[in-house]
Amino acid sequence: TRSLVIAVDGPAASGKGTIASRLAAHYGLPFLDTGLLYRAVGLGVISGGGDLGDAAAAEAAARALAPDRLSDADALTSGDAGEAASRVAGYPGVRAALLDLQQAFARQPAGAVLDGRDIGTVIAPDAVAKLFVTATPEVRARRRWRQLNERGDLIAYEAMLADILRRDERDAGRGAAPMVQAPDAVLLDTTEMDIEAAFDAARRIVEAAR
Ligand code: C5P
Repeated sequence: TRSLVIAVDGPAASGKGTIASRLAAHYGLPFLDTGLLYRAVGLGVISGGGDLGDAAAAEAAARALAPDRLSDADALTSGDAGEAASRVAGYPGVRAALLDLQQAFARQPAGAVLDGRDIGTVIAPDAVAKLFVTATPEVRARRRWRQLNERGDLIAYEAMLADILRRDERDAGRGAAPMVQAPDAVLLDTTEMDIEAAFDAARRIVEAAR
């Protein structure tokens, strides 16, 4: 059987991370949340006392990244890390430094599930199944707001929405590997879906593609 590479792309809080990790569990495949790589680079720049506007510092942080140290989940999933990630993700040198690692992950014998912004377009253009997961900005802001508040990061919904809209604009508008639906990706709009419904829909898309 050929290897099953599944590319899951889409904007922040669309549900793509949960869908991707559940697909990986369902098919028994390794899973990589590529956003964590960019988040770790962003935090690496900040903790080194560097400036997120400094492309060379970000590129150095990307080259120094040790993927086995992506376990500081709380720091990596904070809103600040997401913001820092989306700033360093615009530098072509940062993306180039993270390319081999991601492509090697996708080349594992059984296949792999990767989620991000450019998996179907740049990292794994030959993926067997490609999903582009989306939802309205308001619903995504509401979901992220609930998540962060549940763990004690008290942030206003309006600030969350502004954050989401700014991040969408930056990710879709950049020159290097912008967030865009691959021509052969299937669009999955989760606005009206709970996670069970979204996972079912995603599984059907993968079944139809493989
Ligand atoms: O998916 P997540 O919110 O963790 O990603 C954080 C940021 O990292 C995104 O806003 C995006 O700028 C960047 N990113 C990217 N390419 C990926 C994954 C994430 O540019 N494949």
